[in-house]
Amino acid sequence: MNEPFPTSPPSPPSPVASRLSATADAYDSVAALYTELARNELDAHPLDRALLAAFAEYVRGADAGPVVELGCGPGRITAHLRDLGLDAFGVDLSPVMVGIARETYPDLRFEVGSMDALDLAEDEVNAVVAWYSVIHAPPEDLPAYLAEFRRVLAPGGHLLLAFFESSGDPVTEFDHKVVTAYRWPIDRLAELAGEAGFVELGRTLREPVEGERPFRHGRLLMRLPAHGDGGGDEVRDGDGRRE
Ligand SMILES: C[S@@+](CC[C@H](N)C(=O)[O-])C[C@H]1O[C@@H](n2cnc3c(N)ncnc32)[C@H](O)[C@@H]1O
Repeated sequence: MNEPFPTSPPSPPSPVASRLSATADAYDSVAALYTELARNELDAHPLDRALLAAFAEYVRGADAGPVVELGCGPGRITAHLRDLGLDAFGVDLSPVMVGIARETYPDLRFEVGSMDALDLAEDEVNAVVAWYSVIHAPPEDLPAYLAEFRRVLAPGGHLLLAFFESSGDPVTEFDHKVVTAYRWPIDRLAELAGEAGFVELGRTLREPVEGERPFRHGRLLMRLPAHGDGGGDEVRDGDGRRE
């Protein structure tokens, strides 16, 4: 009788897969508490609401197609974008967060997924919002995240990033309550997004308020060049894919 074919043991998960799984587990375990704490947080921040309103105006003024919030957590920012007149949906790594978002906003669409490998077609969305969700990406992973944002965004699409600013320090890991996170110099993040093809439209820096970590809050509003934009034309390969 022939020996059965030797079977090799399953290969261990890659470091990126292990990191994403740890982040999902961490947010799963705090999802209910996070939802409670974050529910009315925007009410305390007129500057953030003003920026989100400006973002919505830019997106509506362009070709107002779907807008995805990546790392949407309990969906409060996705719902806020919907209230601003956008066709918004959310994606998050944490199934528990997505469950809460679906239950809280049954009229909105929420999917489980990772922002570094989205189940979205090229050019499928007109805007991407990542509100405190790229903060968990190790700096070396961020270019791949930005490339994925660019892949799913239509030409002329908008990007809004919210993050903790590093106030003169280089990219710095800090002891986030849920899982490892990084503070970024706003110029460095803008530069990386620029290398990924985004053009800056504006930025804000907000000081922390009582009860927040002692870090400034950075926001970057960016855009991909549209077809026909002078000087900023994107490059496409022979198959029409963006290079
Ligand atoms: C600080 S919470 C912010 C949630 C939401 N944007 C808000 O402001 O309420 C960060 C969220 O990003 C999600 N997240 C982290 N890494 C992610 C990834 N690679 N893909 C999708 N979601 C991710 C986490 O699961 C978590 O829900």
